[in-house]
Amino acid sequence: MTNLHAGILGTGHSYPEGILTNEDLAKLVDTSDEWITTRTGIKQRRKAASDEYTSLFAVRAGRQAIERARLDPSDIDLLLCATVSPDQILPSTGCIIQAELGTNNAAAMDIVAACSGFIYGLTLADSMIRTGQIRHALVIGAEVLTQYVDYTDRKTCVLFGDGAGAAVLGPVDAGRGILSSKIRSDGRYEEQLYSPGGGTRRRPTPETLAAGDHFFKMKGNELFKVAVRSMADISKELLERARITADDIDLFIPHQANQRITEAVADRLHVPLEKVYSNIAVHGNTSSASIPIALDECVESGRIKAGDLVLMTSFGGGVTWGGAVLRW
Ligand code: ACO
Repeated sequence: MTNLHAGILGTGHSYPEGILTNEDLAKLVDTSDEWITTRTGIKQRRKAASDEYTSLFAVRAGRQAIERARLDPSDIDLLLCATVSPDQILPSTGCIIQAELGTNNAAAMDIVAACSGFIYGLTLADSMIRTGQIRHALVIGAEVLTQYVDYTDRKTCVLFGDGAGAAVLGPVDAGRGILSSKIRSDGRYEEQLYSPGGGTRRRPTPETLAAGDHFFKMKGNELFKVAVRSMADISKELLERARITADDIDLFIPHQANQRITEAVADRLHVPLEKVYSNIAVHGNTSSASIPIALDECVESGRIKAGDLVLMTSFGGGVTWGGAVLRW
């Protein structure tokens, strides 16, 4: 291991103009603004139009992050696009984004880790920068999840939204940047959140399409408990590895899955709610885009200041989870 350290040099985000409110959903399924608000904290979510696709938002977020890092696209050595709603099977959405951005010196690829995808990318980029293999990485979380949402299933259709967030990572001084990070998964929980159709195991046919096999299926209340436990446990481990306590944290950015999950994790960590960032009311759950969108909103609004200690943690289908502690 060298004495290199990686930190975030610039961030960006983008989302569709289209808005789907709780009232709009109440016209589609048997639900209400009151149920959705009290059970999830969500009031509205962004929804891509039928001619809008994942890389469109990823490119806008990525370009903004590169500009704010004061770099040229040619400076990027690694481009990771975390997504479970790729533009197409081949090439990777990462490669499509690469061509649009002109990051021609980069290796580009996708990460499939659902809502933890951005933290997966951050952790991999951090490792490669610290070992000196690369200098700059662009990590993007981007989704058009509403494409895979069954708008006749009230248990899932109220949750998800579309958008993209991005961060450029590069070398920083010791004591700054990523102080600790870790990623985990447990494939035994596959059927708690999955989309069974469309791949080689359950190939796309008119029958599987008609049966809605390509839509997300979720056992929400089972996931709820695993999500809270996993995010709280990994956060405690990351704080310990960074040699700080929850009291030292200035800002906590959890994956935005459900306001009740956010509050349960904060409670387990003893982080007061005024230090917790939440945008779930306006974005819903944007999967891999959730943390980078939140991060960029905090940068834009001045909620993060130089020197702040930031804790991020995520949980998603797979199941996957992870987290990172940073000094901004
Ligand atoms: N409107 C009205 N009623 C509803 C709705 C709705 N939109 N959805 C469910 N209900 C009903 C159910 O049918 C059930 O009724 P029943 O008792 O008559 O059967 C009742 O409400 C309670 O259902 P639960 O599923 O137990 O409700 P819960 O309080 O658990 O909330 C939710 C559901 C919001 C999905 C919650 O469980 C959750 O957020 N889970 C975690 C999701 C998560 O973390 N996912 C992983 C990350 S996402 C990713 O990786 C892409």
